Amino acid sequence: MARSQILRYMQEYIADCRNEIISELFGKTSQGKMLRSKLLLAVSGIHEKALRLCAIIELIQSASLLHDDVIDNANMRRKSPSLNALFGNKNAIMLGDVLYAKAFFELSAYENAIAKSVSDSVCRLAIGEIEDVFMAQSFNTNMTRYLQMCELKTAALIATSAECGALLAGLDSQKYRVYGNNLGIAFQIIDDVLDITQDSEVLGKPAMSDFSEGKTTLPYIYLYERANEAQRQELLALFCTPLSQDSIAWLREHLYMYDCIQDSITKAREYAFCALDSIQGENNAHLQEVVNNMIEREF
Ligand code: FPP
Ligand code: MG
Repeated sequence: MARSQILRYMQEYIADCRNEIISELFGKTSQGKMLRSKLLLAVSGIHEKALRLCAIIELIQSASLLHDDVIDNANMRRKSPSLNALFGNKNAIMLGDVLYAKAFFELSAYENAIAKSVSDSVCRLAIGEIEDVFMAQSFNTNMTRYLQMCELKTAALIATSAECGALLAGLDSQKYRVYGNNLGIAFQIIDDVLDITQDSEVLGKPAMSDFSEGKTTLPYIYLYERANEAQRQELLALFCTPLSQDSIAWLREHLYMYDCIQDSITKAREYAFCALDSIQGENNAHLQEVVNNMIEREF
């Protein structure tokens, strides 16, 4: 099975570091759904070179989440305590650095176009994270800015996964890059919707943490646009504060009342449609499935 093979390669790369602390810390991290790998393999087909590239991309993804949880001060990741919660920020940052550096060492064995694509996307996702942090300093009402941040923070590595799959298979990489980019934006919008619609049990982290972390995701931008003056003031007062059950209920009620959830899902579906449009004629049924799995998901 592809997933277990990717995990084995990740373990092999970590074992190469020959350091007990790193092995122990890495052992405490849990891997997610490996959507980027599924996408890459759906384009490239399954073979060793592709699976090893997936392991590299998953190491980068894990590194970015280790750092993100420090930045967001998050205590939970994938239904378990985050590494920063278990071992402190310093260890989480340093493990992230090792995963990231080891991934780049392994990447250096790949052809230039693949190495460039991955390294460029990591630069973009780091810039996206900075944008995210800066935007959280005040209530962002600018939808274009939010979408640009999603493109950098999330879509960059997803676009690269599709592009690298195409480069490995000798397909038109530009088409697949556009596909991955649109899919990545749709994915982040759905992620932001699920933060509101799902409970913490399903999410594996506290529900509605985005808004208390200062992130005005698409549903909140719609709510700000549509609310009356009194509701706007209430919304602004709740921004970036620890939310009580009553505040969560108020936010959910108004987000649904003004169709902010439904319209955000519609926006994600528009991006998903653009994704599929860009690979029309590529005759790959898996790619439709990847879009469905990323968009019609519940966590
Ligand atoms: C999750 O966002 C975070 C990202 C998609 C990117 C994080 C990128 C960095 C920290 C840059 C550093 C990169 C490396 C490789 C060391 P989120 O907080 O919206 O999602 P969440 O709810 O899953 O936490
Ligand atoms: Mg986060």
